[in-house]
Amino acid sequence: MSSTRTLIRGGLVITASDEIHADVLIEDGRIVALAAHGSGTAEGWTAGRTVDATGKYVIPGGVDAHTHMEMPFGGTFAADTFETGTRAAAWGGTTTIVDFAIQTPGGSLRQGLDTWFAKADGKCAIDYAFHMIMADVNETSLKEMDLLVQEGVTSFKLFMAYPGVFYSDDGKILRAMQRASSNGGLIMMHAENGIAIDVLVEQALAEGRTDPRHHGEVRKVLLEAEATHRAIQLARVADAPLYVVHVSAEEALAELAAARDKGLPVFGETCPQYLFLSTDNLAEPEFEGAKYVCSTPLRPREHQAALWRGLRTNDLQVVSTDHCPFCFTGQKEMGRGDFSKIPNGLPGVENRMDLLHQAVVEGKLSRRRWIDIACASPARMFGLYPRKGTIAPGADADIVIYDPHAEQTVSARTHHMAVDYSAYEGKRITGRVETVLSRGEVVLEEREFKGSAGHGQYTPRSTCQYLD
Ligand code: URP
Ligand code: ZN
Ligand code: ZN
Ligand code: ZN
Repeated sequence: MSSTRTLIRGGLVITASDEIHADVLIEDGRIVALAAHGSGTAEGWTAGRTVDATGKYVIPGGVDAHTHMEMPFGGTFAADTFETGTRAAAWGGTTTIVDFAIQTPGGSLRQGLDTWFAKADGKCAIDYAFHMIMADVNETSLKEMDLLVQEGVTSFKLFMAYPGVFYSDDGKILRAMQRASSNGGLIMMHAENGIAIDVLVEQALAEGRTDPRHHGEVRKVLLEAEATHRAIQLARVADAPLYVVHVSAEEALAELAAARDKGLPVFGETCPQYLFLSTDNLAEPEFEGAKYVCSTPLRPREHQAALWRGLRTNDLQVVSTDHCPFCFTGQKEMGRGDFSKIPNGLPGVENRMDLLHQAVVEGKLSRRRWIDIACASPARMFGLYPRKGTIAPGADADIVIYDPHAEQTVSARTHHMAVDYSAYEGKRITGRVETVLSRGEVVLEEREFKGSAGHGQYTPRSTCQYLD
């Protein structure tokens, strides 16, 4: 009986709502009880395995609600597979990812989803779920949305950017939003005016402005703010909730904040790259700026303070990575002489929990807000709570023992993502993941990987729990 039990003793349990010095009892992959130190309750508990968390934090495993493992983009594929990417996630204290299955234009949602099920099946070290990218809104795919919501794929990403690839015009967006309004789905929006951006790209290239930094210059703040505004108005017309992904600019955030002040069900996510990196990185010489090409793009440093404030005031609810890694050698290099050919995306699935802890150390976030934006809120947003994102009886035993005093330096030499550079190379972080449990099984133990490809299970989701 006690052999299937694990006991985590001596740590400070932190959730989005509480901090309590408590022991945690796990049985059959789930948390069964918490007992405050000194209450005497835990004294009689026995377990096959005891983990000593004295002096450490005991936190829910991270929920990264925006990743792109093996994503096809611009003639190549994101460098992390579901196997390498989920292993790296575990190293970084993330125990659930929500990745994006992609509908190919002309194809069905079903075909796209099945393709992504096949990619991930048997490969993942941690649990996973899917959103659906809709690249072709039509009568058939609109009907399919209802079925997907019922089977646990409850969120749909649409693109106002990338004409000719993923782009949907306003009419298609409105129709998908109307459908989501009736079936309970959540529309996730890539809010950039891609039609206008493509004009500016063409003009920049014609004028010989081909370096990576021009990627940031043509993808203007105004065109993110305009698209964000338009997405919000379309969602109002459709009476649908809206989640704006990878918010990078103060002016776009202001649109979200204004909508939320009106009481509208509008939500937003930002990513570590917008909180810690800037156009200074995009301007790095010798084509090094290509390492930082993603969309929405990195912004001037001044935008960061607004994003941190938005996280504190809950105008932004979630930090996810948009992990979409491309190696510098051979992949980012495809865009030498033409920034528009640089595959878009940054690595980060392994770094998110640590970077946000560094923000706690620097006083930008409270410990509970750290857990909220990285674990609880993404789980709630995408229908995984309280199974994921918290430490409470009944929850999956996805638990991280976090050493808040360890010192580390981020580097591609020591990270576990299958990409040949780190976007945060040389960054010093106070805090480090020590031990990771996924449904009660040890995946990482005192900085040694003990997990396996295939332990991770597909996790169907309910609808957005901020709308309940
Ligand atoms: O540059 C990015 N973000 N690449 C991934 C695709 C997306 O738009 O999220
Ligand atoms: Zn204690
Ligand atoms: Zn996007
Ligand atoms: Zn993305």
